[in-house]
Amino acid sequence: MAESKVGIVTGAASGMGKALATHFASQGWRLALWDVNVKVGEELAKELGPNTFFVQCDVSSYESQANAYLATWTKFGRIDALLANAGIVERSSIFIFKYRGNKVEDVPPAPNLACTDVDYKGVLYGVQLAIHFMRHNPGKPGGKIVVTASNAGIHPHSSYPEYNGAKAAVIQFIRGAADVLRIKENIYINCVCPGIVHTNIIPPEMVAAVSPESLTPLDTITQAYAGCLADGDTRSGVILECSGKQISDIEHERLTFKNGVPSTRSVTVWDPLFKQIHGEPSGLPTALP
Ligand SMILES: NC(=O)c1ccc[n+]([C@@H]2O[C@H](COP(=O)([O-])OP(=O)(O)OC[C@H]3O[C@@H](n4cnc5c(N)ncnc54)[C@H](O)[C@@H]3O)[C@@H](O)[C@H]2O)c1
Repeated sequence: MAESKVGIVTGAASGMGKALATHFASQGWRLALWDVNVKVGEELAKELGPNTFFVQCDVSSYESQANAYLATWTKFGRIDALLANAGIVERSSIFIFKYRGNKVEDVPPAPNLACTDVDYKGVLYGVQLAIHFMRHNPGKPGGKIVVTASNAGIHPHSSYPEYNGAKAAVIQFIRGAADVLRIKENIYINCVCPGIVHTNIIPPEMVAAVSPESLTPLDTITQAYAGCLADGDTRSGVILECSGKQISDIEHERLTFKNGVPSTRSVTVWDPLFKQIHGEPSGLPTALP
């Protein structure tokens, strides 16, 4: 019998990460649960049984992720999927309202951009390391990656301007990287964009203020992930709006250029430049020589 699949769940100690870990453990996956919350993460790994283990990891640190990947590889000897789910909202206000009375020479302190570090840089670090480790998978190299972005990355809301930007960056990164990852690395990367989900990231009072049909059940998120991670699912670069009980592929809503071909050319790969940046040609059938 084939060995069960190995997945990494980041932000596994709470909310969607916990739901994903619980779901995929019940499906027989072997899982590495990564989180900064050691106590809760360890308890969850114990609860989910011997096929899961906890790794303390701060996804905003490349070194921390590299160590967590190595620990996961040492334990399981392969990595089939990265469920890059950890995320936070902003830790300081870019609007600096509280400094409005400052004298002009009294420049406000730099913002705390931990949200960008966790939500965007954490995804870039995770994907780069996934490429490295998935190249070594025994049998067929490659694997799958699903990232939790947010509806806020598509339809921004004013409470979280930094978060909107970080999640939009994640979505655009996935759109731009998916083809090359699929063609060159046999890695399929997709994106789940939740609406409002009742987890620890948002105050319970805000959840109470939302009408029930606007709340997204945790089950909708696990279903979206399960679809992308199912055997034989070959989608890549797909952006899934997961709101209420509906999972919608919104990739077809990608904006078209108003100026047609001249503007399209501005984002068509010219292989000499791709090679200059990345060291080899893109492999994309649409690339210009
Ligand atoms: N809840 C929502 O309404 C909602 C909506 C859209 C998107 N999201 C996104 O869903 C994902 C999961 O969030 P959630 O709602 O389950 O929140 P949550 O707060 O319940 O869980 C987030 C988990 O991530 C962990 N974490 C935070 N910083 C980390 C770091 N640097 N390294 C590793 N782990 C870290 C936390 O300890 C926690 O266990 C996030 O990416 C979030 O932005 C949430």
